[in-house]
Amino acid sequence: MPALLLLATLHGMNRLLFGDNLKWLRDRNIFPDSSVDLVYLDPPFNSNATYNVLFKEASGEASQAQFHAFTDTWEWTADVDATYAEFVDNCPNASVVELVEALKKFLKTSPMMAYLAMMAPRLVELHRVLKPTGSLYLHCDPTASHYLRLILDSIFAAKNFRNEIIWKRANAHNDPKKFGRISDSIFYYGKSDEVVWNPQHTQYREGYYESHFKLDKDGRYFRTVPLDAPRHGSGSPALLYEWHGKKPAASRTWAVRREIMEQYEREGCICYTKTGTPTLLQYADEMPGVPLQNIWTDIPPVNPQAKERLGYPTQKPVALLERILLASTNPGDLVLDPFCGCGTTVHAAQKLGRQWIGIDITYLAINLIKRRLRDAFGEDAQFEELGNPTDIGGARRLAEQDKFQFQHWALSLVGARPLREGDGKGADRGVDGLLYFYEGKDDRAKLIVQVKGGGNVSAKDIRDLLGTVENQKAMGGVLITLEAPTKPMVRESIGAGRYKTKLYQKEYPKIQILTVEGILNGTERLEAPPQANPFAKAEREAKQQKQEEML
Ligand SMILES: C[S@@+](CC[C@H](N)C(=O)[O-])C[C@H]1O[C@@H](n2cnc3c(N)ncnc32)[C@H](O)[C@@H]1O
Repeated sequence: MPALLLLATLHGMNRLLFGDNLKWLRDRNIFPDSSVDLVYLDPPFNSNATYNVLFKEASGEASQAQFHAFTDTWEWTADVDATYAEFVDNCPNASVVELVEALKKFLKTSPMMAYLAMMAPRLVELHRVLKPTGSLYLHCDPTASHYLRLILDSIFAAKNFRNEIIWKRANAHNDPKKFGRISDSIFYYGKSDEVVWNPQHTQYREGYYESHFKLDKDGRYFRTVPLDAPRHGSGSPALLYEWHGKKPAASRTWAVRREIMEQYEREGCICYTKTGTPTLLQYADEMPGVPLQNIWTDIPPVNPQAKERLGYPTQKPVALLERILLASTNPGDLVLDPFCGCGTTVHAAQKLGRQWIGIDITYLAINLIKRRLRDAFGEDAQFEELGNPTDIGGARRLAEQDKFQFQHWALSLVGARPLREGDGKGADRGVDGLLYFYEGKDDRAKLIVQVKGGGNVSAKDIRDLLGTVENQKAMGGVLITLEAPTKPMVRESIGAGRYKTKLYQKEYPKIQILTVEGILNGTERLEAPPQANPFAKAEREAKQQKQEEML
């Protein structure tokens, strides 16, 4: 099959899903049983914090302007109560139900129990969708890790727990009256013994070659290691054969079976001691390195200066996800991140030629991922988007369900940046989002964007928007509305006139009305000068040739 066709086939499953992951995971058309090779999840940790997105300023620096991305505080509400009751009544896995009920007796209706009631049904579904050869990696911290481990044991069976990976995510913390907390835990479970496993290695420490190897006449580091090993019990008969007239010494066996010994001999890797005992000749430059252990201190977090930083809170480094994916998947496998944030897993999967599905409940995250993929991979990143409105009916449903997410989605239709948390009040009243363009090197102009998701739009809204544009010293304003504008609104917007840009010497409408329907069906589009990107830009990844080589 030609490489490009093969790649297109590989990307066939790539999907970005907007909405609650439990709803998506229970959709068996999207997630049949045993369909996913690897799940990585980095859910909220029950940290009792609110996480904000940092935007980028014109200078490239992080802006003080922050936008609320997601909240990690939990409460036992009527909704949680209903989810819990539905779970204990219907979950087919009796052991996890018993455990969750026992936890409820102990934790009562505490915030921790509300958090666990959210996690348990999702973990049950994630186990269902994994293939028998699949693996799950749950990223968490000590706040809830002890409870999550119990729940995972009850779902996967304790024998399928494989590792707790300790990831050092900071250098030092000054935590009062305790040791600095600088690590996260990543629980690694297999669905069965048959998991995909590709051993990973790290480099030898400095000075290791000098202390453990000798130099040969060609300047290569080498060593010899015994080809016999201690005998356990009576020893495996497959390891007790005669080799060049010699049997292993008493209480020892050969270290490898005869076929391997023969292979070593063919490859010229066996040296014999003066007494005729075989040893294996190893060259340092042919060895893969130290097998990776479960404490990872070599992958730095995404710090404020990091090139890959996108401003999304809790963003994980791509290197961390690459390591996990390389160990537990093969090219073409399907990777799922049900709490995908700004898309680190999706990025790593795309880079390594794996198929991927990312789910996030906020449109802000979905929008960031789309930009990230476009910036890093261009046309190579092909994927299907589900859950976001594609027609006016869908837009209306989103506006009814969640005004806030509707606003984010509508702003993304024109590439606007949502206004910072707490704004839309005081001086910024009436501003939902901003668009920027440059009039000169340090001369950034702005357009005010307002979103109307309900009925009752009128000419007063246009007058108010014009007033805000003038108060804010903006060049113009854009009203995105779900309902068609009335004739007086259109008259009012035409009456507002046009503005002329210094740099482009072009005129644009001072107030522009765009309907959601018109934007979606392509009959209306923003008339404005080329915009400055308010989001941090992901670095371009090298062309995806590597994937073809790997296949
Ligand atoms: C800790 S962040 C993940 C960060 C991610 N690993 C990265 O590198 O960007 C958790 C994400 O889960 C999302 N989230 C929370 N509850 C969710 C739910 N029920 N369904 C889908 N996404 C959810 C939040 O919006 C947030 O983006």
